[in-house]
Amino acid sequence: MAKPQQILHLLLGLLILIGAAPSISDAATSSPYKKSKSQSKAEASSRGGSSAVFPLSGDVYPSGMYYVTMNIGNPAKPYYLDVDTGSDLTWLQCDAPCVSCSKVPHPLYRPTKQKLVPCSDPICSALRQCETLQCDYEVQYADQGSSLGVLVSDAFNLRLANSSTVRPTLAFGCGYDQQLLNPNAPALTDGVLGLGGGKVSIMSQLKDQGVTRNVVGHCLGRNGGGFLFFGDDLVPYSKVSWAPMSRTHKYYSPGPASLYFGGKSLGIKQMDVVFDSGSSYTYFTSQPYQALVSAVKSDIGNTPLKEASDPSLPLCWKGQKPFKSISDAKKYFKSVVLSFVNGKKPNLEIPPENYLVVTKYGNACLGILNGSEVGLKDFSIIGDITLQDLMVVYDNENGQIGWIKTACNRLPKS
Ligand SMILES: *[C@@H]1O[C@H](CO)[C@@H](O)[C@H](O)[C@H]1NC(C)=O
Ligand SMILES: *[C@@H]1O[C@H](CO)[C@@H](O)[C@H](O)[C@H]1NC(C)=O
Repeated sequence: MAKPQQILHLLLGLLILIGAAPSISDAATSSPYKKSKSQSKAEASSRGGSSAVFPLSGDVYPSGMYYVTMNIGNPAKPYYLDVDTGSDLTWLQCDAPCVSCSKVPHPLYRPTKQKLVPCSDPICSALRQCETLQCDYEVQYADQGSSLGVLVSDAFNLRLANSSTVRPTLAFGCGYDQQLLNPNAPALTDGVLGLGGGKVSIMSQLKDQGVTRNVVGHCLGRNGGGFLFFGDDLVPYSKVSWAPMSRTHKYYSPGPASLYFGGKSLGIKQMDVVFDSGSSYTYFTSQPYQALVSAVKSDIGNTPLKEASDPSLPLCWKGQKPFKSISDAKKYFKSVVLSFVNGKKPNLEIPPENYLVVTKYGNACLGILNGSEVGLKDFSIIGDITLQDLMVVYDNENGQIGWIKTACNRLPKS
């Protein structure tokens, strides 16, 4: 069966080939974790930070990604960037000149010599050891894609919630040699927006420059679109379900969870999960995948649905008539629940519409995939499909990850 690109779109950055990889434990010790508390707008602005909100484009199916328009440079030019909480480095396909670039939506970014980040810059040492003058980088992703290039810094135009525009200079990768899954297919984005917790992440840079606090969140719309935000002004702290961020993890992880289907335990405890907005689908490691698939299949046995093969995804069902939308199909399926064991033991409820895809062939397919097939052994990935219509907050200030059900199709007023 042909594998469409989005199945493997799993942009979890496996930093970094050249030089030493930064470990999350370094990041954790350098950013002091504070006790969580409700924060009013007044408190937030008195700390000198602010927030910025960006509309998102894209969807889970068929585009397989959510992306934001960033205006970079002087004069500022727009670029589409794939929103990725699974990696730290932001990069653009780049004319430096380019050795291997795909066809991108906008003209390639062109750096000047003055924009090069010197190797002696602390942000470069976070990425690699200093051997040459310029700061070369290489990132590899779990989907086997990679980008090789040089670190540059340039102005990012950010419109803050209080209507001011700021233009902080941020370091990012100018990628002149990309290995992509489908090198000949035009790319949907000009690059990747790395929102991980490490030092090279633009979130850490914005925090260091006093622009926003190191809090980032997204709301991925079920019918596409949604919004992304930097800073904590919009976060309804007291209503959000919070789990402490695992400090041993390189990625954003709310710690271990137990797995339930239709209200019954599947016997899976201590399931290690990470949240990754750069992955279109959710991937479970072998055991939980096996347990879930058995439970769903046995449950579907009591309905009129039949298993069907579909080129879009590995496990699909058809009804008596082709499904037109998720709402036709969801009544045949039960909810999955991840129950986290740390903190106040929050649940992540995953209703059928957050794990099913209705394809153009009218089948309902499981959007939770077999992680072993893409080489995941130690942890499962919660991807875009499961994060739809939730506001998800990665609070690096307080060391916690939170979520709350929200319709993401409206940009919040702030
Ligand atoms: C908006 O917030 C930024 C950062 O806190 C501050 O520098 C700027 O003066 C504020 N602008 C207005 C119009 O209040
Ligand atoms: C998941 O993938 C692995 C590796 O390809 C395979 O051995 C295993 O049988 C698969 N699990 C299921 C339930 O299909």
